Formats: sequence, structure tokens, C-alpha cells
Amino acid sequence: MTAIKGSTAKIINLNQKMAAKKGDAPPEPHKGSHTRVIAITSGKGGVGKTNIVANLGIALSQLGKKILIFDADMGLGNLDILLGLTPKYNFSHVLLGEKSVSDIVIEGPEQIKILPASSGIQEMANLSKSMTAHLLGELGAIIDTIDILLIDTAAGISSNVMYFNAIAQEVLVVVSPEPTSITDAYALMKVLSIRYGVKQFKLLVNMVKDIQEAYEVHRQLKLVSEKFLDITIDYLGHVYSDENIARGVRQQKAVCDIYPESQASRCFNSLAVKLCQSQAYIPPSKEAPLFWKELIASKLDLNKS
Ligand SMILES: Nc1ncnc2c1ncn2[C@@H]1O[C@H](COP(=O)(O)OP(=O)(O)O)[C@@H](O)[C@H]1O
Ligand SMILES: [Mg+2]
Repeated sequence: MTAIKGSTAKIINLNQKMAAKKGDAPPEPHKGSHTRVIAITSGKGGVGKTNIVANLGIALSQLGKKILIFDADMGLGNLDILLGLTPKYNFSHVLLGEKSVSDIVIEGPEQIKILPASSGIQEMANLSKSMTAHLLGELGAIIDTIDILLIDTAAGISSNVMYFNAIAQEVLVVVSPEPTSITDAYALMKVLSIRYGVKQFKLLVNMVKDIQEAYEVHRQLKLVSEKFLDITIDYLGHVYSDENIARGVRQQKAVCDIYPESQASRCFNSLAVKLCQSQAYIPPSKEAPLFWKELIASKLDLNKS
């Protein structure tokens, strides 16, 4: 705890130094954050992460939650395209120091806020400690106003994907019933558990024909991971294979937005309820000021060096 407190102080110091350099007033320390930070990830691409993030965001917003989606697919971010949005600025402008996080946030359907990705961004893990601290300060200013931050990660197991999964409080793994999706999800959880100490995962099985298929995917993954990895995988839910999702993609609208009565939309609504009922693995606490920043700092070992 002392190490965490030390690292938080260091973040604030660095932020103040950076702000002072730019001639701005030092940022106010943030009040306690109640925000849940959830990374949505899969290993394999094309399993439905971005559609899930967008629709889950809408369904959670309809339950009265304030939602921010961070498109962290720095190579092929396409959340904006999926929702028919045309952001003027993106995350690269924040990294270049030209814009603040609140300048680049745009509004999507149901008042969800979106932080657009940028392509060709340098590896988050390779950012300097002072830049990381600066970004945390920038994010902190907006994160305190929202209930749930959903992070849409890229495919694969690049350092950026690992970075965003490691800083989240919860990792939601999306799989489809295809064997390649299941093996890629396993590989991702293996790396996250061995190298980053992530031991608990939530599973969402997408594109299923029936609920038995979803349970079977969970059973298979649970069986191998309990045997070979020291992790737990909780079943969050499933989304049926529904052509309305593809119809929505073609119209650049989320299925929950234009086909709210579809089978897929009903799945997203019940997933949102289940997510709200489930606990964050690392519970956010109002008593712990700067909680999420401490979490990030401790996970990334910012207190070293
Ligand atoms: N439940 C579903 N039923 C039918 N098609 C789906 C479903 N979920 C996703 N898709 C389709 O799969 C494709 C990939 O989805 P996307 O969200 O872009 O995946 P990812 O972000 O994992 O790469 C899209 O063309 C989308 O229409
Ligand atoms: Mg995607």
C-alpha cells in the first residue's frame, strides 16, 4: 500500500511538472473514482469485440450508466465507422500534446462518450513514464464523470493489447464457437496470467446458435485453464448469431440502436443487466482516492525508476 501511495504521489508530481512546463496550472487531484474499467479482448480478430463494445455501451447507457468507450485498437480502430461517426481528432493529438482528452471525446448513440483511436500510434508500453503519467492525469479528469469505461482492444497479443488488459479492473474475453477463436482466447489468457498476473476473466460467447453451444465453449475453456493455468473464467453470457448485426454494420448503426427488438439486442440488454449485477474483480472504492490511477500505477510498476 505504501508503494502504491508513493507511486500516486509520483504521478501527481510528474503531472505537475508537465503542466508547469506548458505554463498551465497544476491539475487538481481527482476525487475518489467509482469507475469500473473493463477491457474487451479476444486474441483472434473478427469475433465481434467492437460490435459488443458498442452495443453493450448502448445497453448500459439505457440502464442509466454513464459510459465512455476507448477505442484502443491503435492499428485498425473502427468503432467510429461502425457507429457512423467522423471524429476530427483522435488519441494521437493527445499524445502530441495538441489536444486534451476531453477535446477529442465525441458523443455516440444514447449519450455514450467515445475516445477515438489513432493509427500508427507508438506502443503504449514504450511511452515515457512522464508521458504515461500525463495521460493518466488527462484521463482522470474525464473518468471521474463516468460509471463504466469500456476499452475495445485490438486483435492479437501485442504489447498494446496486453497494456490495456493489464490496466483494466476486469477483462472480458470474447470468443466465438470456432476452435481458432477458443485457442486464441486461451493463448491470450495464458500470457495475461503468467506475465501480467491477471487471474480472473469474464467470458462472453458470441455468434452462438443456442445456449448449449455457449455453455460448451465455456466448459471447454474452463477445463483446460483449470488444469494448466491458475485462473478462473466466469461465464458472463452469450450473443446469438444474428444477421441484424451485419445489417446494422452496413448501415453504420449499432443493432441496439436500429433493431432494438432483435434477438441480438435482447442479448445485449441482458448482458448489461448481468454486468451491472456482477462485481468488479478489484472493487472500486470511494474511500480510496485516485483508486484507478493507483491500480494502473501499481500494475505498470510506475514506482520503479
Ligand atoms: N452475434 C453476431 N452475429 C452475426 N454477426 C456478427 C455477430 N457479432 C459480430 N458479427 C459480425 O462479425 C464481424 C466482425 O465483428 P467486429 O465487431 O468487427 O469484430 P472484432 O472487433 O472482434 O474484430 C462483423 O462483420 C459483424 O457484423
Ligand atoms: Mg474490432
